[in-house]
Amino acid sequence: MSAQTEPLVQIKDLHKRFSISGDFLDQLKFRGGKLVREREVVHAINGVSLDVQRGEALCVVGESGCGKSTVARTVMGLLSPSAGTISYGGERIDNLSDRQILPYRRKMQMIFQNPYASLNPRMTIAQTLEEPVRFHNPKAPASEVRDKVHEVMQSVGIDPTWGKRFSHEFSGGQRQRISIARALAVDPEFIVADEPISALDVSIQAQVLNLMMDAQASRNLTYLFITHDLSVVEHFGTRVAVMYLGTLCELAPTKTLFATPRHPYTQALLSAIPRLETGRPAHIRLQGEVSTPVNLPTGCVFHGRCPHANERCSRDIPRLIATGDGGQVACHAVEEGRI
Ligand SMILES: Nc1ncnc2c1ncn2[C@@H]1O[C@H](COP(=O)(O)OP(=O)(O)OP(=O)(O)O)[C@@H](O)[C@H]1O
Ligand code: SF4
Ligand SMILES: [Mg+2]
Repeated sequence: MSAQTEPLVQIKDLHKRFSISGDFLDQLKFRGGKLVREREVVHAINGVSLDVQRGEALCVVGESGCGKSTVARTVMGLLSPSAGTISYGGERIDNLSDRQILPYRRKMQMIFQNPYASLNPRMTIAQTLEEPVRFHNPKAPASEVRDKVHEVMQSVGIDPTWGKRFSHEFSGGQRQRISIARALAVDPEFIVADEPISALDVSIQAQVLNLMMDAQASRNLTYLFITHDLSVVEHFGTRVAVMYLGTLCELAPTKTLFATPRHPYTQALLSAIPRLETGRPAHIRLQGEVSTPVNLPTGCVFHGRCPHANERCSRDIPRLIATGDGGQVACHAVEEGRI
């Protein structure tokens, strides 16, 4: 595979479990007169494989708790996988030492949902932006660091003369611009953005989104963009990954996914978007019990709510198969031609 066609980031068969039953003593319980050890586990990610291609904006969607942030944090090395691997530019990075991971820490940056929590209130904006530049370029002369900070502040629409101010002096939208500047200051290649606009006023969401799109074009960035807002995906995403209960249901180019959603969960998700045009499928109301990642269902994780589920669905886990239009879908009914 050439460097051009090789995915920038590869997630292979990722699993992430969290123990939620405390330490050893917390786990001991009396059952039928016997002392037994019981461990409760959240199965947050259950075998997700995903490639992020260079230059794309891959959007990850799915309802609250489906594991979007866990994927993001694991890719960034903030969490270690329970199983599976993460590779960057063809090199495995999930098992590197603190020293070995350092070059990747510059290339891979993360933008969080809450710009109030992600900026240090005791540092001026200039200090906030200089810190990562100095960390990754310890030999850079002070003038070069200053120039870089000036350049990124300008590019995100924050007046560089405001560098002496503190983050509390800025609005939510401006703070998120500063967080973006902080990520851009170290010339990254790959940005993971976890709901970067959902904490902002609706009126400024589009501005911040446009800023991110401009930065992508001018700096050749690749995005893994997490959102629950499908209208954002439609305008921003190159491809979309739809998750449900820690698994990948469908992955497709954005236009294809919106025109012909294949997975029953994607169909239900898209049918919920209000549309002005007629001829759109009616809103699909999902029935059935919502499973939790603590009691993961057997077979397809969606079978309890799926209108097309059959006996095979409650037994066998569907694998991702190519749909022929550039997408992939994990559904027995699609594979069998039932839908
Ligand atoms: N540190 C943790 N300890 C225990 N459980 C966790 C932890 N982090 C996440 N989880 C659980 O893992 C599952 C996936 O969580 P995650 O935050 O990745 O979902 P999400 O898709 O980002 O949701 P949201 O849209 O609400 O941000 C949830 O059930 C969550 O409660
Ligand atoms: S595999 Fe079965 S339960 Fe799962 S989405 Fe497809 S039809 Fe529905
Ligand atoms: Mg999240």
